[in-house]
Amino acid sequence: MVTAEHLHKTFGRFTAVKDASFSIEKGEIVGFLGPNGAGKTTTMKMLTGYLPPTAGTARIAGFDIIDSPLEARRHMGYMPENVPLYDDLRVYEYLDYRARLKGICGKSVRNQIGEVIEKCGLEPKRKTLINTLSKGYRQRVGLADALLGNPDLLILDEPTNGLDPNQIRQIRELIRALSENHTVILSTHILHEVEMICNKVIIIDQGEIKAADTPENLTANLRAAGRVSIEYKGDLDSIVQELEAFEPIKKVFTEETEDGWHRLLVRAEPGTDSREKAAAIIASHGYPIRHIYRHIPSLEDVFVEMTRRD
Ligand SMILES: Nc1ncnc2c1ncn2[C@@H]1O[C@H](COP(=O)(O)OP(=O)(O)O)[C@@H](O)[C@H]1O
Ligand SMILES: [Mg+2]
Repeated sequence: MVTAEHLHKTFGRFTAVKDASFSIEKGEIVGFLGPNGAGKTTTMKMLTGYLPPTAGTARIAGFDIIDSPLEARRHMGYMPENVPLYDDLRVYEYLDYRARLKGICGKSVRNQIGEVIEKCGLEPKRKTLINTLSKGYRQRVGLADALLGNPDLLILDEPTNGLDPNQIRQIRELIRALSENHTVILSTHILHEVEMICNKVIIIDQGEIKAADTPENLTANLRAAGRVSIEYKGDLDSIVQELEAFEPIKKVFTEETEDGWHRLLVRAEPGTDSREKAAAIIASHGYPIRHIYRHIPSLEDVFVEMTRRD
């Protein structure tokens, strides 16, 4: 659905996006994740054709954004960072205006507006003046606008920015529902957001793509991914020795709890699970175990590891 090849953008001497290449398959929900100023908006604007790349190309549904901008744009709906709405129009009037601007005409204007209003839950606000809408409803109008023309691809720049937790949940549900029929690219600086809805994450930092993968794969290969903690009561040295002799285990760190049990922190190969074997070793001595836990790394761990500046 989207192929970006060596996209590059400089503003004067400043490089905002550096040699970005990625591809997005039909049906994916992809999150551009990165801190403020990382280059997310700039990348999205290049994909939409609003900002010409300094170098590199992108294709949307097979159409080059520079050579065939009209065809490429027909396949996408874009919701910019701060949805520019006309405050003195009613929701319906605004969407009508936008539909005509997008070249939708005749009977399909009415049909399409009806459809996007329904999809975005705007029915009760159809005749409301935009300047009296809450931020959450304004985002919905932005989404409805992006959906006009029923594009294959939705590009949503920080769709939940500035919303309260309830509104965030509602917009997230809406995006999830839309993703059944549309490929979605969204940007966010909130990790949790990506974990909740995206099946692919592109981590951007200082204009560079640091990683692009599923959240599962990103976390599986982390250093933290094989870590296990155990609490048991019994002899320490022999257990540590036996554990360290077991293949995926790299090193065992020991600690004493306040009530006299041993706490082991087991560092093992990323992606392995040494709980069963470790428990068996301890149990073979007849020692009781009261806690065994395998650390589940979060995208936050990935993010920290990828964007560490050392
Ligand atoms: N038109 C512009 N002129 C100069 N610098 C810009 C312009 N647009 C963006 N930048 C700079 O490029 C960097 C990336 O910006 P942006 O893509 O908006 O980041 P993000 O969306 O990830 O917060 C920032 O340092 C920003 O200040
Ligand atoms: Mg931005």
